[in-house]
Amino acid sequence: MLVTCRIPTAALDPLREIADVEVHERPAPLTPDELQTALRDKHGLVSVVTDRLDRAALEAAASLRVVANIAVGYDNIDVAYARHRGIVVTNTPDVLTESVAAFTWGLILAATRRISEGERLVRRGEWRGWALDFMLGMALPGKRLGIVGLGAIGQAVAAKAAAFGMDVAYASRSHRPPAGEEQAAWRRVSLDELLVSCDVVSLHVPLTRETTHLIDRKALVRMRRSAWLINTSRGPVVDEAALVWALEEGVISGAALDVFEREPVVSEGLLALDNVLLAPHLGSATRETRTAMAELAAMNVVAVLQGRPAMTPVA
Ligand code: GLV
Repeated sequence: MLVTCRIPTAALDPLREIADVEVHERPAPLTPDELQTALRDKHGLVSVVTDRLDRAALEAAASLRVVANIAVGYDNIDVAYARHRGIVVTNTPDVLTESVAAFTWGLILAATRRISEGERLVRRGEWRGWALDFMLGMALPGKRLGIVGLGAIGQAVAAKAAAFGMDVAYASRSHRPPAGEEQAAWRRVSLDELLVSCDVVSLHVPLTRETTHLIDRKALVRMRRSAWLINTSRGPVVDEAALVWALEEGVISGAALDVFEREPVVSEGLLALDNVLLAPHLGSATRETRTAMAELAAMNVVAVLQGRPAMTPVA
């Protein structure tokens, strides 16, 4: 079995009990060639988002029976081809929901209250003291939060909006409205209505062909000039070049991004701007959550290799 990064012993031990485990210890991801070579004789794989498990990689893995991705997203895997080959693919939903929702709120607060922008100014030695009109942000009470994609994470983010006095609107592909008293106050709208009417737009869709560049130049133009865009989903959901343009031109107020189109490369245009907060893909990054994610991935591999159904197979 192959594990493509170091994982906590609580996750590694159950794997070692059932098979030999090769762990890729280097922090740099395996190159496509290394991955193909390493996968040649493996039955199980614990992967992470930086591993590209495209058709070529899976074709090289003749004995592979299960890919357990330590992530809720699985756009790094050719799931259709895996299915065709009978390889089970699993992800790690639920265990990371609250961590990602809390981090999203961290970005909403930090962006709209200009916390990291202010910190950069202090570190540059440019703070000249308190002033009534200095670095004013946007108050959240009475404003509207727009959730694009009302899956588990979108719902967890929406559920915290009341604590900051915000109304919630959401756009969702699913036809099933969420049940519950709190959810009844959330307004379902079209994506276009969400963009024109929300003060904070937060993205929680998976990356698919349909959601690639969902937020493009046209969408950004529909947003309010005073609005903020938050992305903790996947980088390519936003057209990064269009976002740079929108931020430069004041088409929107600002953005906070945890994900990028070509990670770990961040476009020069974004790096040069002060009205965008840049985080290094940390949405689920707490010790507790990452351990739970690795443990769940390990349990999925053990289940499949022992002939039981996976706990969390992808749809
Ligand atoms: C991380 O980005 C994840 O999908 O869990």
